[in-house]
Amino acid sequence: MKMIDVINGPANVSAIIQGCMRMSGLSDEDAAKVIKTSYQCGINFFDHADIYGGQGAAEEKFGRAFALTGIKREDVILQTKCGICPERQEFDWTKEHILKSVDDSLRRLKTDYIDVLLLHRPDLLFDPTEVAQAFDTLEKSGKVKYFGVSNLTYMQLELLKKYVKQPIIFNQVQFSLEQSQLIDQALYMNNKTTDLSINRDGNLLDYCRINDIRVQAWSPLQKGMFGGNFIDDNEFPELNAALDKIAKREGVSKTAVAIAWILRHPAGIQPIIGTMNPDHIKDTCQACDVNLSHHDWYELYLASGKFLP
Ligand SMILES: NC(=O)c1ccc[n+]([C@@H]2O[C@H](COP(=O)([O-])OP(=O)(O)OC[C@H]3O[C@@H](n4cnc5c(N)ncnc54)[C@H](OP(=O)(O)O)[C@@H]3O)[C@@H](O)[C@H]2O)c1
Repeated sequence: MKMIDVINGPANVSAIIQGCMRMSGLSDEDAAKVIKTSYQCGINFFDHADIYGGQGAAEEKFGRAFALTGIKREDVILQTKCGICPERQEFDWTKEHILKSVDDSLRRLKTDYIDVLLLHRPDLLFDPTEVAQAFDTLEKSGKVKYFGVSNLTYMQLELLKKYVKQPIIFNQVQFSLEQSQLIDQALYMNNKTTDLSINRDGNLLDYCRINDIRVQAWSPLQKGMFGGNFIDDNEFPELNAALDKIAKREGVSKTAVAIAWILRHPAGIQPIIGTMNPDHIKDTCQACDVNLSHHDWYELYLASGKFLP
């Protein structure tokens, strides 16, 4: 496993993060197997959200399962998110909601601190002074060590940073070979012949790199938004052929190559994998052993349906 030190954040964390969004359907024992397998593969970073599994079910499952693994709490990074309220059909970044949500997550995860709290999706009515008060309270109480966001544009980050005094250390966004909007615009800028030139996030990746905000990539294998895995999907013959060629050369799975493509970017993007299958976890972690050349990276990008302008 490749390990990294996060600027203004935790040191020696795994480049690959284990996502727990799909954990709630497992038995406690199977969930413990997932956590243990990830840990044995070198993953010490687990991603949650209060909404995963519905009403905290994934956090609750993790809390029970983690106790069965024998892994020490201080040896892992627990990250969770708040701000999406499906039952109310709204997003909520009020101080009251953030503080309550953290208390609920602490109880479900059976821990007395959260390493990283992310605000999940922007609340259109958010008042940055309220968020700042919430972060201060959480930091002072020791309930949260580090803060970040998810799915934010660069201007929303600027606004938040003007009021919040803690460093914003992560922005978690969708990014993969198939969903590569994060980088496409940089290549096609000013080109009116293709929608790939549309600037959808205000050059978010450059902004994050300049401001020491590490990007985490959610759903690194999904087509569209949760449209199923693009690996072995007939809709992507060229991409699968290109992945297969490199996978055979490197002696790893195509999945490992797709994750290695994210890791190869010099921004140090952390892929968040969502598999709940221990064999797939082992397979995927081989991504850290893949040697992708500059040319390999472009070959995969072009095979995913893009072209050089
Ligand atoms: N911030 C946000 O807005 C946001 C949104 C979505 C997700 N997330 C985070 O991102 C994490 C990952 O999302 P995701 O689950 O959609 O990620 P993913 O890794 O792209 O997809 C995982 C899915 O692919 C399947 N899969 C099939 N074959 C596989 C193989 N050979 N290797 C690996 N996986 C295989 C898995 O099934 P098996 O279990 O059978 O392997 C699982 O259903 C989530 O857990 C969550 O933490 C964040």
